[in-house]
Amino acid sequence: MSTAGTPTKLSYTPEVAAATRDLYAKVANVVPEIEWPHFAPVIAEINRLKKERGAVILAHNYQTPEIFHCVADFVGDSLQLAREAAKTDAKVIVQAGVHFMAETSKILSPEKTVLIPDLEAGCSLAASITGADVRLLKQKYPNLPVVTYVNTSAEVKAESDITCTSSNAVAVVESIAKERGVDTVIFIPDKFLAQNVANQTKIKIIAWHGRCEVHERFTAEDIRRFKADHPGAVVLAHPECPAEVVAECDFAGSTSAMTDYVNTKRPARVVMLTECSMADNIAAQVRDVEFLRPCNLCPHMKRITLDKILRSLQTMTHEVKVDATVAARAKAAVERMLAVGKPKPAVH
Ligand code: 13P
Ligand code: SF4
Repeated sequence: MSTAGTPTKLSYTPEVAAATRDLYAKVANVVPEIEWPHFAPVIAEINRLKKERGAVILAHNYQTPEIFHCVADFVGDSLQLAREAAKTDAKVIVQAGVHFMAETSKILSPEKTVLIPDLEAGCSLAASITGADVRLLKQKYPNLPVVTYVNTSAEVKAESDITCTSSNAVAVVESIAKERGVDTVIFIPDKFLAQNVANQTKIKIIAWHGRCEVHERFTAEDIRRFKADHPGAVVLAHPECPAEVVAECDFAGSTSAMTDYVNTKRPARVVMLTECSMADNIAAQVRDVEFLRPCNLCPHMKRITLDKILRSLQTMTHEVKVDATVAARAKAAVERMLAVGKPKPAVH
Protein backbone atom coordinates (compact mmCIF):
# COMPACT_ATOMS: atom_id res chain seq x y z
CA MET A 1 0.00 0.00 0.00
CA SER A 2 1.40 3.44 -0.87
CA THR A 3 1.51 6.52 1.29
CA ALA A 4 0.10 9.81 -0.06
CA GLY A 5 2.57 11.37 -2.48
CA THR A 6 4.34 8.13 -3.40
CA PRO A 7 3.47 6.85 -6.88
CA THR A 8 2.35 3.22 -6.70
CA LYS A 9 2.72 0.42 -9.22
CA LEU A 10 -0.90 -0.48 -9.81
CA SER A 11 -2.14 -3.79 -11.07
CA TYR A 12 -5.42 -5.58 -11.52
CA THR A 13 -5.23 -8.06 -8.65
CA PRO A 14 -8.10 -10.31 -7.50
CA GLU A 15 -8.50 -7.90 -4.52
CA VAL A 16 -8.88 -4.91 -6.86
CA ALA A 17 -11.32 -6.88 -9.04
CA ALA A 18 -13.43 -7.73 -5.97
CA ALA A 19 -13.28 -4.19 -4.55
CA THR A 20 -14.37 -2.59 -7.84
CA ARG A 21 -17.00 -5.14 -8.92
CA ASP A 22 -19.94 -2.94 -7.88
CA LEU A 23 -18.41 0.06 -9.64
CA TYR A 24 -18.04 -1.89 -12.87
CA ALA A 25 -21.69 -2.84 -12.67
CA LYS A 26 -22.52 0.88 -12.83
CA VAL A 27 -20.69 1.40 -16.14
CA ALA A 28 -20.85 -2.06 -17.72
CA ASN A 29 -23.23 -0.69 -20.35
CA VAL A 30 -20.72 1.86 -21.64
CA VAL A 31 -17.21 0.68 -20.63
CA PRO A 32 -16.07 -2.49 -22.49
CA GLU A 33 -15.03 -5.32 -20.14
CA ILE A 34 -11.61 -5.44 -21.78
CA GLU A 35 -10.88 -1.88 -20.58
CA TRP A 36 -11.79 -2.50 -16.94
CA PRO A 37 -8.44 -4.06 -15.85
CA HIS A 38 -6.80 -0.79 -16.96
CA PHE A 39 -9.27 1.48 -15.11
CA ALA A 40 -10.00 -0.55 -11.97
CA PRO A 41 -6.63 -0.27 -10.12
CA VAL A 42 -6.53 3.49 -10.74
CA ILE A 43 -10.11 3.88 -9.53
CA ALA A 44 -9.40 1.85 -6.38
CA GLU A 45 -6.30 3.92 -5.62
CA ILE A 46 -8.08 7.25 -6.24
CA ASN A 47 -10.90 6.23 -3.90
CA ARG A 48 -8.40 5.18 -1.20
CA LEU A 49 -6.27 8.31 -1.54
CA LYS A 50 -9.33 10.57 -1.57
CA LYS A 51 -10.17 9.44 1.96
CA GLU A 52 -6.56 9.80 3.11
CA ARG A 53 -6.42 13.36 1.77
CA GLY A 54 -9.86 14.39 3.02
CA ALA A 55 -10.73 15.23 -0.58
CA VAL A 56 -13.91 15.29 -2.63
CA ILE A 57 -14.07 15.03 -6.39
CA LEU A 58 -16.56 17.37 -8.09
CA ALA A 59 -17.18 16.13 -11.62
CA HIS A 60 -18.98 17.91 -14.42
CA ASN A 61 -21.57 16.08 -16.52
CA TYR A 62 -19.08 16.05 -19.45
CA GLN A 63 -16.57 13.83 -17.65
CA THR A 64 -16.14 10.29 -18.98
CA PRO A 65 -18.20 7.50 -17.33
CA GLU A 66 -15.29 5.95 -15.39
CA ILE A 67 -14.73 9.34 -13.71
CA PHE A 68 -18.40 10.35 -13.46
CA HIS A 69 -19.70 7.05 -12.05
CA CYS A 70 -16.66 5.54 -10.32
CA VAL A 71 -14.66 8.25 -8.50
CA ALA A 72 -16.82 11.40 -8.34
CA ASP A 73 -18.42 12.36 -5.02
CA PHE A 74 -20.68 14.97 -6.61
CA VAL A 75 -21.71 15.34 -10.24
CA GLY A 76 -23.74 17.99 -11.96
CA ASP A 77 -23.94 21.08 -14.12
CA SER A 78 -21.95 24.25 -13.39
CA LEU A 79 -24.54 25.62 -10.96
CA GLN A 80 -24.82 22.39 -8.97
CA LEU A 81 -21.02 22.06 -8.73
CA ALA A 82 -20.69 25.68 -7.54
CA ARG A 83 -23.37 25.09 -4.87
CA GLU A 84 -21.54 21.95 -3.75
CA ALA A 85 -18.15 23.75 -3.62
CA ALA A 86 -19.73 26.41 -1.40
CA LYS A 87 -21.08 23.90 1.10
CA THR A 88 -18.64 20.97 1.22
CA ASP A 89 -16.68 20.55 4.44
CA ALA A 90 -13.90 18.56 2.74
CA LYS A 91 -10.41 20.10 3.04
CA VAL A 92 -9.52 19.40 -0.58
CA ILE A 93 -11.60 19.74 -3.75
CA VAL A 94 -10.42 17.99 -6.90
CA GLN A 95 -12.24 19.58 -9.83
CA ALA A 96 -12.90 17.09 -12.60
CA GLY A 97 -13.88 19.76 -15.08
CA VAL A 98 -12.34 22.82 -16.67
CA HIS A 99 -10.30 25.64 -15.15
CA PHE A 100 -13.10 28.18 -14.68
CA MET A 101 -15.00 25.59 -12.62
CA ALA A 102 -11.99 25.07 -10.35
CA GLU A 103 -11.60 28.83 -9.99
CA THR A 104 -15.27 29.15 -9.06
CA SER A 105 -14.77 26.51 -6.36
CA LYS A 106 -11.72 28.37 -5.02
CA ILE A 107 -13.60 31.69 -5.04
CA LEU A 108 -16.44 30.16 -3.04
CA SER A 109 -14.19 28.18 -0.68
CA PRO A 110 -10.95 30.19 -0.41
CA GLU A 111 -9.78 28.30 2.69
CA LYS A 112 -9.84 24.99 0.84
CA THR A 113 -7.17 23.46 -1.39
CA VAL A 114 -8.62 23.27 -4.90
CA LEU A 115 -6.81 21.04 -7.38
CA ILE A 116 -7.24 20.71 -11.13
CA PRO A 117 -5.71 17.58 -12.68
CA ASP A 118 -4.66 19.44 -15.86
CA LEU A 119 -3.97 23.18 -15.90
CA GLU A 120 -4.53 23.33 -19.65
CA ALA A 121 -8.20 22.36 -19.34
CA GLY A 122 -9.58 25.70 -20.56
CA CYS A 123 -12.72 26.85 -22.36
CA SER A 124 -13.16 28.82 -25.59
CA LEU A 125 -15.75 31.05 -23.89
CA ALA A 126 -13.46 31.87 -20.96
CA ALA A 127 -10.66 32.64 -23.44
CA SER A 128 -12.85 35.06 -25.42
CA ILE A 129 -12.85 37.94 -22.93
CA THR A 130 -10.56 39.65 -20.40
CA GLY A 131 -11.11 41.91 -17.41
CA ALA A 132 -9.91 44.86 -19.52
CA ASP A 133 -12.61 44.10 -22.13
CA VAL A 134 -15.27 44.25 -19.40
CA ARG A 135 -13.93 47.55 -18.09
CA LEU A 136 -14.25 49.01 -21.60
CA LEU A 137 -17.82 47.72 -21.89
CA LYS A 138 -18.67 49.34 -18.55
CA GLN A 139 -17.22 52.65 -19.77
CA LYS A 140 -19.35 52.43 -22.89
CA TYR A 141 -22.56 51.52 -21.00
CA PRO A 142 -21.99 53.02 -17.54
CA ASN A 143 -25.47 52.45 -16.12
CA LEU A 144 -26.04 48.88 -17.22
CA PRO A 145 -25.41 45.83 -15.05
CA VAL A 146 -22.97 43.20 -16.29
CA VAL A 147 -24.26 39.61 -16.22
CA THR A 148 -21.41 37.17 -16.70
CA TYR A 149 -21.68 33.52 -17.65
CA VAL A 150 -19.64 31.40 -15.20
CA ASN A 151 -17.56 30.16 -18.15
CA THR A 152 -15.11 33.04 -17.56
CA SER A 153 -11.95 33.78 -15.58
CA ALA A 154 -12.04 35.06 -12.00
CA GLU A 155 -10.74 38.40 -13.31
CA VAL A 156 -13.80 38.76 -15.57
CA LYS A 157 -16.18 37.70 -12.79
CA ALA A 158 -14.58 40.32 -10.54
CA GLU A 159 -15.63 43.05 -13.00
CA SER A 160 -19.23 41.82 -13.06
CA ASP A 161 -22.38 42.55 -11.09
CA ILE A 162 -23.63 38.98 -11.12
CA THR A 163 -22.77 35.65 -12.71
CA CYS A 164 -25.15 33.12 -14.24
CA THR A 165 -25.10 29.59 -15.60
CA SER A 166 -27.09 27.99 -18.40
CA SER A 167 -29.66 26.82 -15.86
CA ASN A 168 -30.49 30.22 -14.34
CA ALA A 169 -29.53 32.79 -17.00
CA VAL A 170 -33.07 34.10 -17.67
CA ALA A 171 -33.89 34.36 -13.94
CA VAL A 172 -30.58 36.14 -13.25
CA VAL A 173 -31.05 38.65 -16.10
CA GLU A 174 -34.60 39.45 -14.96
CA SER A 175 -33.62 39.71 -11.30
CA ILE A 176 -30.70 42.11 -11.82
CA ALA A 177 -32.68 44.24 -14.30
CA LYS A 178 -35.50 44.56 -11.77
CA GLU A 179 -33.11 45.30 -8.89
CA ARG A 180 -31.36 48.03 -10.90
CA GLY A 181 -34.55 49.38 -12.51
CA VAL A 182 -33.23 48.98 -16.09
CA ASP A 183 -34.62 47.36 -19.24
CA THR A 184 -31.21 46.39 -20.71
CA VAL A 185 -28.26 44.36 -19.42
CA ILE A 186 -24.78 43.54 -20.70
CA PHE A 187 -24.51 39.75 -21.07
CA ILE A 188 -21.03 38.26 -21.59
CA PRO A 189 -19.32 36.38 -23.16
CA ASP A 190 -21.50 33.80 -24.99
CA LYS A 191 -23.21 35.35 -28.00
CA PHE A 192 -25.47 32.33 -28.56
CA LEU A 193 -26.54 31.97 -24.92
CA ALA A 194 -27.23 35.73 -24.99
CA GLN A 195 -29.52 35.30 -28.02
CA ASN A 196 -31.27 32.35 -26.44
CA VAL A 197 -31.85 34.30 -23.23
CA ALA A 198 -33.07 37.35 -25.19
CA ASN A 199 -35.65 35.10 -26.87
CA GLN A 200 -37.14 34.25 -23.47
CA THR A 201 -37.34 37.66 -21.82
CA LYS A 202 -38.44 41.24 -22.48
CA ILE A 203 -35.10 42.53 -21.11
CA LYS A 204 -32.85 43.81 -23.90
CA ILE A 205 -29.39 42.31 -24.10
CA ILE A 206 -26.05 43.71 -25.21
CA ALA A 207 -23.90 40.69 -26.04
CA TRP A 208 -20.21 39.84 -26.53
CA HIS A 209 -18.90 37.68 -29.38
CA GLY A 210 -17.65 34.60 -27.49
CA ARG A 211 -18.71 31.13 -28.64
CA CYS A 212 -18.38 27.62 -27.34
CA GLU A 213 -16.25 25.71 -29.84
CA VAL A 214 -18.23 22.54 -29.12
CA HIS A 215 -21.80 23.83 -29.44
CA GLU A 216 -21.32 26.39 -32.23
CA ARG A 217 -20.83 23.49 -34.66
CA PHE A 218 -24.40 22.17 -34.43
CA THR A 219 -26.82 23.45 -37.05
CA ALA A 220 -30.59 23.46 -37.59
CA GLU A 221 -29.88 21.39 -40.71
CA ASP A 222 -28.43 18.65 -38.41
CA ILE A 223 -31.79 18.54 -36.61
CA ARG A 224 -33.83 18.39 -39.81
CA ARG A 225 -31.67 15.58 -41.19
CA PHE A 226 -31.92 13.61 -37.96
CA LYS A 227 -35.64 14.03 -37.70
CA ALA A 228 -35.98 12.85 -41.33
CA ASP A 229 -33.66 9.85 -40.82
CA HIS A 230 -35.02 8.88 -37.39
CA PRO A 231 -38.72 9.74 -37.19
CA GLY A 232 -39.86 10.23 -33.60
CA ALA A 233 -36.35 10.96 -32.24
CA VAL A 234 -36.37 13.65 -29.57
CA VAL A 235 -33.69 16.34 -29.96
CA LEU A 236 -32.20 17.99 -26.87
CA ALA A 237 -29.76 20.92 -27.12
CA HIS A 238 -27.61 22.98 -24.79
CA PRO A 239 -28.37 26.74 -24.88
CA GLU A 240 -24.77 27.43 -25.97
CA CYS A 241 -25.97 26.19 -29.40
CA PRO A 242 -26.96 28.79 -32.02
CA ALA A 243 -30.50 30.17 -31.64
CA GLU A 244 -31.67 28.44 -34.86
CA VAL A 245 -30.74 25.10 -33.23
CA VAL A 246 -32.55 25.92 -30.00
CA ALA A 247 -35.58 27.04 -32.03
CA GLU A 248 -35.84 23.63 -33.77
CA CYS A 249 -34.98 21.29 -30.91
CA ASP A 250 -37.58 19.67 -28.64
CA PHE A 251 -35.97 20.84 -25.40
CA ALA A 252 -33.06 23.13 -24.52
CA GLY A 253 -31.49 23.28 -21.08
CA SER A 254 -28.39 22.98 -18.96
CA THR A 255 -26.52 19.68 -18.93
CA SER A 256 -28.42 18.55 -15.82
CA ALA A 257 -31.75 19.75 -17.22
CA MET A 258 -31.15 17.53 -20.28
CA THR A 259 -30.30 14.59 -18.02
CA ASP A 260 -33.49 15.16 -16.01
CA TYR A 261 -35.49 15.30 -19.25
CA VAL A 262 -34.23 11.86 -20.33
CA ASN A 263 -34.60 10.38 -16.85
CA THR A 264 -38.19 11.52 -16.44
CA LYS A 265 -39.64 11.42 -19.98
CA ARG A 266 -37.76 8.30 -21.19
CA PRO A 267 -37.98 9.06 -24.93
CA ALA A 268 -37.36 5.89 -26.99
CA ARG A 269 -34.70 7.62 -29.12
CA VAL A 270 -32.85 10.77 -28.31
CA VAL A 271 -30.23 13.01 -29.90
CA MET A 272 -28.25 15.21 -27.50
CA LEU A 273 -26.67 18.20 -29.22
CA THR A 274 -23.91 18.62 -26.67
CA GLU A 275 -20.72 16.94 -25.43
CA CYS A 276 -20.47 13.18 -26.10
CA SER A 277 -19.97 11.98 -22.51
CA MET A 278 -23.43 13.27 -21.57
CA ALA A 279 -25.14 10.46 -23.47
CA ASP A 280 -22.64 7.88 -22.17
CA ASN A 281 -23.22 8.89 -18.56
CA ILE A 282 -26.99 8.67 -18.88
CA ALA A 283 -26.84 5.47 -20.96
CA ALA A 284 -24.87 3.81 -18.17
CA GLN A 285 -28.01 3.94 -16.02
CA VAL A 286 -30.93 4.35 -18.40
CA ARG A 287 -30.98 1.26 -20.55
CA ASP A 288 -34.31 1.69 -22.35
CA VAL A 289 -33.35 4.87 -24.27
CA GLU A 290 -31.43 4.73 -27.54
CA PHE A 291 -28.90 7.57 -27.90
CA LEU A 292 -28.21 8.63 -31.46
CA ARG A 293 -25.17 10.62 -32.53
CA PRO A 294 -24.03 13.34 -33.38
CA CYS A 295 -22.33 14.82 -30.40
CA ASN A 296 -19.07 16.77 -30.17
CA LEU A 297 -16.10 16.23 -27.85
CA CYS A 298 -14.89 19.11 -25.68
CA PRO A 299 -11.08 18.88 -25.96
CA HIS A 300 -10.71 20.75 -22.66
CA MET A 301 -12.98 18.48 -20.64
CA LYS A 302 -11.27 15.46 -22.18
CA ARG A 303 -7.90 16.56 -20.77
CA ILE A 304 -9.11 15.27 -17.41
CA THR A 305 -8.41 11.54 -17.09
CA LEU A 306 -8.35 8.99 -14.28
CA ASP A 307 -4.53 8.89 -14.41
CA LYS A 308 -4.33 12.68 -14.03
CA ILE A 309 -6.82 12.67 -11.15
CA LEU A 310 -4.69 10.08 -9.37
CA ARG A 311 -1.53 12.09 -9.99
CA SER A 312 -3.29 15.20 -8.73
CA LEU A 313 -4.13 13.48 -5.43
CA GLN A 314 -0.68 11.92 -5.10
CA THR A 315 1.24 15.15 -5.65
CA MET A 316 -1.45 17.67 -4.56
CA THR A 317 -1.19 19.45 -7.90
CA HIS A 318 -2.18 21.64 -9.65
CA GLU A 319 -3.33 23.97 -6.94
CA VAL A 320 -5.67 26.69 -8.20
CA LYS A 321 -4.97 30.08 -6.68
CA VAL A 322 -6.89 33.32 -7.15
CA ASP A 323 -5.59 36.73 -6.08
CA ALA A 324 -7.40 37.66 -2.84
CA THR A 325 -8.75 41.02 -4.08
CA VAL A 326 -9.97 39.53 -7.36
CA ALA A 327 -11.48 36.57 -5.49
CA ALA A 328 -13.40 38.78 -3.06
CA ARG A 329 -14.98 40.79 -5.91
CA ALA A 330 -15.70 37.68 -7.97
CA LYS A 331 -17.23 35.99 -4.92
CA ALA A 332 -19.74 38.82 -4.52
CA ALA A 333 -20.91 38.25 -8.13
CA VAL A 334 -21.12 34.47 -7.73
CA GLU A 335 -22.90 34.64 -4.36
CA ARG A 336 -25.41 37.09 -5.77
CA MET A 337 -26.19 34.46 -8.42
CA LEU A 338 -26.48 31.67 -5.83
CA ALA A 339 -29.08 33.76 -3.98
CA VAL A 340 -31.30 33.98 -7.12
CA GLY A 341 -33.92 31.26 -7.09
CA LYS A 342 -33.13 30.27 -3.50
CA PRO A 343 -36.29 30.00 -1.43
CA LYS A 344 -36.59 32.99 0.92
CA PRO A 345 -36.67 32.10 4.65
CA ALA A 346 -40.19 32.06 6.09
CA VAL A 347 -41.16 35.24 7.98
CA HIS A 348 -42.87 34.62 11.36
P1 13P B 1 -23.74 23.52 -17.75
O1 13P B 1 -23.75 24.59 -16.71
O2 13P B 1 -25.05 23.38 -18.46
O3 13P B 1 -23.27 22.23 -17.15
O4 13P B 1 -22.73 23.94 -18.92
C1 13P B 1 -21.37 24.06 -18.75
C2 13P B 1 -20.65 23.99 -20.02
O5 13P B 1 -19.48 24.27 -20.09
C3 13P B 1 -21.39 23.56 -21.19
O6 13P B 1 -20.59 23.59 -22.30
FE1 SF4 C 1 -16.19 25.57 -22.70
FE2 SF4 C 1 -17.71 24.63 -24.65
FE3 SF4 C 1 -16.00 23.00 -23.43
FE4 SF4 C 1 -18.21 23.87 -22.16
S1 SF4 C 1 -18.12 22.55 -23.94
S2 SF4 C 1 -16.14 23.79 -21.33
S3 SF4 C 1 -18.38 25.96 -22.99
S4 SF4 C 1 -15.48 24.80 -24.66
